[in-house]
Amino acid sequence: MRRKIQNKKKTNIRKAEIEMTNFDYYAPTKVVFGKGTEDQAGDLVREQGATKVLVHYGSGSVKRSGLLERIYQSLEQAGIPFVSLGGVVPNPRLSLVYQGIELCKKEHVDFILAVGGGSVIDSGKAIGYGVANEGDVWDFYERKRVAAGCLPIGVVLTIAAAGSEMSNSSVITNEDGWLKRGYGNDCCRARFAVMDPELTMTLPKYQTASGCVDIMMHTMERYFNQEENLDLTDGFSEHLIRTVMENARILMKEPDNYKARAEVMWAGSLSHNGLTGCGTAGGDWASHQLEHELGGMFDVAHGAGLAAVWGSWARYVLEGNPGRFAQFAVRVMGQEKGKDDTETALRGICAMEEFYHQVEMPTSLSELGINPTEEQIHSLAEKCSHFGKRTVGCIKKLDQEDMYQIYKMAM
Ligand code: NZQ
Ligand code: ZN
Repeated sequence: MRRKIQNKKKTNIRKAEIEMTNFDYYAPTKVVFGKGTEDQAGDLVREQGATKVLVHYGSGSVKRSGLLERIYQSLEQAGIPFVSLGGVVPNPRLSLVYQGIELCKKEHVDFILAVGGGSVIDSGKAIGYGVANEGDVWDFYERKRVAAGCLPIGVVLTIAAAGSEMSNSSVITNEDGWLKRGYGNDCCRARFAVMDPELTMTLPKYQTASGCVDIMMHTMERYFNQEENLDLTDGFSEHLIRTVMENARILMKEPDNYKARAEVMWAGSLSHNGLTGCGTAGGDWASHQLEHELGGMFDVAHGAGLAAVWGSWARYVLEGNPGRFAQFAVRVMGQEKGKDDTETALRGICAMEEFYHQVEMPTSLSELGINPTEEQIHSLAEKCSHFGKRTVGCIKKLDQEDMYQIYKMAM
């Protein structure tokens, strides 16, 4: 009898082990958060042992706000020589990455300080790969090779959105064919991220809202999965999404609200540093893949592009896991249960689209301001499926035809 019970226990333990998905969690970035923290940039770079720095920045906001000048002063005070390269645009271009690699090699740069948003950080990471590895850096984004290293990166963040300040990812657009591709590797994770929520107060309303959508989506992509999920990860994810929604609404009316800026900025980092993915086996990520092609072809803001396709994706794949969508509807979107999971799920999707409208984000391609031709929709699906060579997503595995259908639905 005793033996039987022991056996039963063993079986249960084994079953539990099979149901729980193993995971790695690696978040090596030192976060320095709060008002005025950008003045520590020089000391933080020195702490990393840098001898020559590339200060990388975007198309002008950091000059207008005076931030760039303060960063230069901070580096000078810390006695760190530097060169600079500006001009990164949203959906950052490969051609500037090549210029950055040349500059770093010529100037013997051994540390990159990205001052800006996801585009600047991603461009900096790509330059870092290019300096630390021989050959064409685009190979990594094409999955032809794996990077063996990356120059160390530090970040002074100016927009809460992409989460690149703590993520292992970099997304670059190759002007030759307008292909937008992401590459993930732990070696590019930032050594430190300086996050002063006040720096985000100069953002245009559209960029603030687009950033909030992206932050929510980084957790939603992980939340929609086919695993036995950890209650802790679910609860954390649900609260993160609700927090961003609540504060996004506040920021639409009060862009200078420090607390709301801080909530959103911290959520942005935690949403994409892997924390909300623990036990999810990765998540779905189809909406991101669909959006990346829109960014590559039409140069739209990333978060706005996500809002424009998400509802169509959700309706298309819903039957792949109605229970999960229903849980999302009730716990995140505060919906009453319907007659079955599908009805509840649809209520949640509608409620999310209402939220997008509340923060002036699009829920279709036409609201996003683009009107792709039939030929362009085929081309989007072709590129997203890597010319028929891959599927994306896990709620439902999407092939090229599915992608085409979702783009059509999103019109
Ligand atoms: O270039 P400037 O003049 O600085 O203007 C930028 C840009 O026009 C402006 N901006 C940034 N901070 C500002 C400001 N304007 C006024 N005041 C400030 N404080 O905002 C615009 C958008 O900047 P960008 O860096 O493009 O924004 P975001 O952080 O949303 O980055 C988007 C890029 O990141 C990629 C996206 O695909 C897109 O290319 N992603 C990167 C990820 C990653 N590496 O982990 C994950 C994401 O899913 C995403 O794909
Ligand atoms: Zn994103």
